[in-house]
Amino acid sequence: MVFVTRKTHFNAAHRLHNSSKSDEWNKKTFGKCNHPNWHGHNYVMEVTVAGEPNPETGFIIDLSDLKKIIEEKIVEPCDHKNLNLDVPFLEGILPSSENLVKAFYEELKEEVEEASSEGGVLYSVKLYETERNIAEYCPFKKV
Ligand code: NI
Repeated sequence: MVFVTRKTHFNAAHRLHNSSKSDEWNKKTFGKCNHPNWHGHNYVMEVTVAGEPNPETGFIIDLSDLKKIIEEKIVEPCDHKNLNLDVPFLEGILPSSENLVKAFYEELKEEVEEASSEGGVLYSVKLYETERNIAEYCPFKKV
């Protein structure tokens, strides 16, 4: 199995806050990320497709197609936006990196797999909230 990855970035604001809990609980649980007036991250995202290369093109997926899908589905709706308020497909989702990678995966899956000529699959979405804090969603990995 061969894996190809497209790396992209976007900037967005968010706030980690669970409105069903007390202000005290939120402050204690989320610390700085609970700041009421939002804060921003320079997110870096890696989208990985797995499959076998097409014998005619050598591609699992044309990376320019993958780039276009990521731009349309994730970067355009999220870049320079507030992830709590502005992004329709994130409505009702607490925008932690863990929840974001799952939502991004679901948002990308259908179009990415349609664009893969050889029946490739969307393998994983990885999100760097900072250089040191990283979340990954991959339904194929078991622990
Ligand atoms: Ni944050």
